[in-house]
Amino acid sequence: TENKLSLQDEISILKKAKNAVILAHYYQEPEIQEIADFVGDSLELAKKAAATNADIIVFAGVHFMAETAKILNPSKKVLLPDLNAGCSLAESCPPGAFQKLKDQYPNHVVVTYINCSAEIKAMSDVVCTSSNAEKVINSIPLDKPIIFAPDKNLGRYLIEKTGRKMLLWDGACVVHEAFSIDKLLELYGKYPSAKIIAHPESEEHILKIANYIGSTSGMLNFVKSSKHETFIVATEAGILHQMQMDVPHKTLIPAPAKEDNTCACSECAFMKMNTLQKLYTCLKEESPEIILEESLMKNAHRPIARMMEL
Ligand code: 13P
Ligand code: SF4
Repeated sequence: TENKLSLQDEISILKKAKNAVILAHYYQEPEIQEIADFVGDSLELAKKAAATNADIIVFAGVHFMAETAKILNPSKKVLLPDLNAGCSLAESCPPGAFQKLKDQYPNHVVVTYINCSAEIKAMSDVVCTSSNAEKVINSIPLDKPIIFAPDKNLGRYLIEKTGRKMLLWDGACVVHEAFSIDKLLELYGKYPSAKIIAHPESEEHILKIANYIGSTSGMLNFVKSSKHETFIVATEAGILHQMQMDVPHKTLIPAPAKEDNTCACSECAFMKMNTLQKLYTCLKEESPEIILEESLMKNAHRPIARMMEL
């Protein structure tokens, strides 16, 4: 609509005037992805944040992603359109309880999935994302036992992939646990030539039948390079925007959720808290801003830097 266009234009003008960069995750609403300078998966967004020359980073994603950007590039002003844009995985792992687990297993190497708070990152030896998790686990000496947090589904998948024993934190993503295996199989019955692609945060029974498992960028690359025509996509529905643009002639079907959601698919309510309007206001007012304590940033930087070096 005209309204949306003018808001997008105003954001562009503000962005130039303030030397700001807009980084967006694939789960953001299409209007936000369209005005972003860069759209990517968690790892790519972290790399962009670390390398940017802009004075302001507007992070169109969730809180832990904006925090990571701040930790990687602390001299920049990092803005998040809605500070309440959290993540069920990050929430599942409170620092106090995690410290207790660490105390029980003091000789374990702590690997944390980037979907956690800065406090949890500061307690970690190395961070990983869904695109480099296997590599990170394989970089740990074989004689070292591992604690993996907070996603038990990704953790279980990594145990299977790497053959490593790991102590798993009992966290999960509400969005990726919402897929229905029964409905998925029923759908597959109707599209037997479809390839099932899934994010590793999905439950074990979904991953078992998946033809490809990977990060959001990994899934996009798979669909682009595959000779197949039809895909059932088990991740947040926001990815379909970029995916359909990449492969306009292929058929993309969102994996069905257990309960009939409004969109009959899975949406991350946290990701969707950011709107174009909130993005505009936050850039204009330069608030809400991510503010972190110096020492916390320093301690959380170490395990992220270790990941980046790999
Ligand atoms: P990616 O790193 O694969 O983009 O995943 C981010 C995320 O939040 C998945 O739910
Ligand atoms: Fe967190 Fe899941 Fe939303 Fe990703 S999709 S931000 S893991 S709640």
